[in-house]
Amino acid sequence: MRTLFVGVLACIAFTMNAQKNAQIRIYPEQGTRQISRHIYGQFAEHLGSCIYGGLWVGPESDIPNTDGYRNDVLEALKNLQIPNLRWPGGCFADEYHWMDGIGPRENRPKMVNNNWGGTIEDNSFGTHEFLNLCELLGCEPYISANVGSGTVEEMAKWVEYMTSEGDSPMARLRRENGRDKAWKVKFLGVGNESWGCGGSMRPEYYADLYRRYATYCRNYDDNRLFKIASGASDYDYNWTEVLMKNAGGHMDGLSLHYYTVTGWSGSKGSATEFNKEDYYWTMGKCLEIEDVLVKHIRIMDKYDPRKKVALMLDEWGTWWDEEPGTIRGHLYQQNTMRDAFVAALTLNLFHKYTDRLKMTNIAQIVNVLQSMILTNNEKMVLTPTYHIFEMYKVHQDATHLPLDLICEKVSVRDNREVPLVSASASKDNNGKIHITLANVDLDNNQEITLDLNNQKISKVNGRILTSRSINDHNTFDNPELVKPVAFTGAKVEKGLVKINLPAKSIVVLEVN
Ligand code: AHR
Repeated sequence: MRTLFVGVLACIAFTMNAQKNAQIRIYPEQGTRQISRHIYGQFAEHLGSCIYGGLWVGPESDIPNTDGYRNDVLEALKNLQIPNLRWPGGCFADEYHWMDGIGPRENRPKMVNNNWGGTIEDNSFGTHEFLNLCELLGCEPYISANVGSGTVEEMAKWVEYMTSEGDSPMARLRRENGRDKAWKVKFLGVGNESWGCGGSMRPEYYADLYRRYATYCRNYDDNRLFKIASGASDYDYNWTEVLMKNAGGHMDGLSLHYYTVTGWSGSKGSATEFNKEDYYWTMGKCLEIEDVLVKHIRIMDKYDPRKKVALMLDEWGTWWDEEPGTIRGHLYQQNTMRDAFVAALTLNLFHKYTDRLKMTNIAQIVNVLQSMILTNNEKMVLTPTYHIFEMYKVHQDATHLPLDLICEKVSVRDNREVPLVSASASKDNNGKIHITLANVDLDNNQEITLDLNNQKISKVNGRILTSRSINDHNTFDNPELVKPVAFTGAKVEKGLVKINLPAKSIVVLEVN
């Protein structure tokens, strides 16, 4: 990997208001791999107000909507160019019975959402509502199907219901429910977290079960399923080993989950009230995903050197304490500039592994964990994380460009080290180069010299996301405190780009 770091700082307390220097060299002619747009995938679970209130208010609502989908959220999401949307869970998926969510809404049975606060789920958002939403957003659906408490027959029939064009029993049922043409469904998850909420299984048992369930998920007409096995949680390398060994030849993808979280028991810390040390710790924890990815990829390479099986990181992001006053188990959290840094740093490093890492899904799209959007009745705000996904969309399907980076780094709690600059570059189909840069340092500007390896540069434009405090976030009363603005700190000088990157800022540059 062409990334170099120098100049370790002893401790963050010493990094007070000085200018720092960093150097980046990009190799525009050496790009060989595409950054799959599916790296920018999203996730919507029946959890808290992600679906109900967040995406869906129903056609009778006073909140402006199109066939039940709220207009403000729809419009904001269209601007993100979402490549795929995972649904209905998460843990919810392994208790979800799809037949409860079809037919006239008033006749659909209710259930208890046992995983997420015991809320009553009325199934008014089901298969049709989800797949039609994907059509409105222009994204690929990623269905996560029930292995934990569902039958093989139930899963097989769901695939037939969604994708069969012919005169099959499930296609007839779909037509009776108002949809003539089959949908195209490519991504099919066979279970979720099968080691935990998805059935508490051992990997050997799940590997066999995966093979059995996947066998009966058929390709109808010209629909081609991309079957994804339920993967490991962060450091569980044995799960990947056993799955690859016993079922690697039967899957198209293997999932993985990694959250930037302090731990699974006790308080996870406030989303908005944190100090400098907490911030730098968060950067260290989010960057540790690189080591985790490398180790899982190494195991996959052993069993699948030709990289036929994709790694699908279908849940990632920050997990903080729920906002005070919100419903327990609904995972509603605020989203600050710190979350924007987690998104920016993580996406920058994902680009390096796209020969194996073909999809990722941040958790979750609206009102849950590290969301793009927060809603409260008729009000909506875009989070700092939303702005990162919007700024970074230029990388989707572009060619990844290798780079060298020289910058200082800082030592943080739990023996981690954090480089103070993060960068990634790509070239799009029109030959435009985009560079995303983050200055992680809370106190110091970075004077960056960017060398495009002798490529002629005439103009550099950019946008910047920053704020006075790293704790800043958008609220319903102040929805535009954090938003991107034009960046004027980059100049072309003697064939190089000189960038003055303010403390705690994230920038996207377009080089012509
Ligand atoms: O994203 C929230 C939950 O986290 C998901 O339901 C589950 O898969 C994971 O544990």
